[in-house]
Amino acid sequence: MMARALDLARRPVEPPYPNPRVGAVIARDGEVLSEGWHAAYDAPHAEYMALEKLGFRAPGATIYVTLEPCCPFPGKRNPACSELIVAAGIARAVIALPHPFDGENRGRAIMEEGGVKVETGLLAEEAEWLVAGLFHYRRTGRPMVAAKWAMTADGLIAPPDRKRGKISSSEGFRFAHLMRHRADAVLVGVGTVLADDPMLDCREAGFSHPVRVVADPRLETPPGSKVAATARERRTVVLCAEDAPQERERALEKLGVEVARLRARGGELAPSDMLAALAERNCLLVLVEGGASVHGRFFDAGLVDEYMIVVAPKLLGGRDSLHPIGGKGRGDLAQCVPLADFRVERLGEDLLLRGRPVFDGRRATRRP
Ligand SMILES: NC(=O)c1ccc[n+]([C@@H]2O[C@H](COP(=O)([O-])OP(=O)(O)OC[C@H]3O[C@@H](n4cnc5c(N)ncnc54)[C@H](OP(=O)(O)O)[C@@H]3O)[C@@H](O)[C@H]2O)c1
Ligand SMILES: [Zn+2]
Repeated sequence: MMARALDLARRPVEPPYPNPRVGAVIARDGEVLSEGWHAAYDAPHAEYMALEKLGFRAPGATIYVTLEPCCPFPGKRNPACSELIVAAGIARAVIALPHPFDGENRGRAIMEEGGVKVETGLLAEEAEWLVAGLFHYRRTGRPMVAAKWAMTADGLIAPPDRKRGKISSSEGFRFAHLMRHRADAVLVGVGTVLADDPMLDCREAGFSHPVRVVADPRLETPPGSKVAATARERRTVVLCAEDAPQERERALEKLGVEVARLRARGGELAPSDMLAALAERNCLLVLVEGGASVHGRFFDAGLVDEYMIVVAPKLLGGRDSLHPIGGKGRGDLAQCVPLADFRVERLGEDLLLRGRPVFDGRRATRRP
């Protein structure tokens, strides 16, 4: 039931920001009675939608919700779902994720005081991915950034001729697509578009697709590339410098590509400006997929919240092969960026390394 609620929360193509994605299922004796999801900022809440279908009466039923139901607070525009759940006679509420913000987290107490049995924590990690970008944005004023690449065991992401090829196994590949499903946007440099011509979509059946974003100061994204040619079916945003050639902008816009001109310093697009442009477009969880130049710029700017590194059991070698993080780097081993909460998981024959970078004494971001 909770897995279903998580799927429902993902249904809207556009996230309902500044409200969270939420899904809800009402069930009795293993049978689904009704379902709801928060479709848009001004649409009813997921719990409201599910309760409305039952005439706001569901005695003895259980509600499964991905996020703690809302409570009354000054200025609130809609009826509080926690109160509606009590009034409907619901017996039990299963919540994946407690609400993290003070003043918005009284839903549980309201339901308990109303006689509803409340449980939390079921499928909490996936539920946290649903709201990670939004809550990070509320805490920090910028989108959450996860940086991901696949590399050989000797730490290389492409051969000297930059020809595309497979690095990870099918499990590593599936993880990459799961992350695209979780993200609002996936960002690559134009070098990756030119070398790999990626589709940047989510290949798993039933999964949602992120907005595709190319960092491309001089507008070199070819109109014949997959991201440009398919822009009418899936949103593609190209971030360029304000003086990028007009005729290239027109050619891309004809295909449905959104071109956003950013202030550039010495031909450089600052990661903070790129993130601000993405926040304006409702992209609050950004998956940076490379290549090396892009990873280098985000690393040098200290604007990554989580690294996700897929390591394949193979060696490439070669001084001219490409390593993952370009840019200036730290220059000195004593200045390395530590990875907090460093973890290893198995992805079939590959390994997944995860860590939250601690840039210059700043606190690492909370991880979903
Ligand atoms: N294994 C993996 O997971 C993985 C993932 C992605 C890509 N790759 C590989 O990586 C290679 C491409 O990497 P790459 O480093 O050449 O290309 P890239 O990072 O994809 O793009 C680099 C290009 O974009 C420009 N650029 C990117 N961000 C910019 C910014 N913020 N401001 C200004 N310019 C910006 C760069 O300009 P400058 O020249 O001025 O830096 C350069 O022209 C390909 O071989 C691809 O197969 C591997
Ligand atoms: Zn609500």
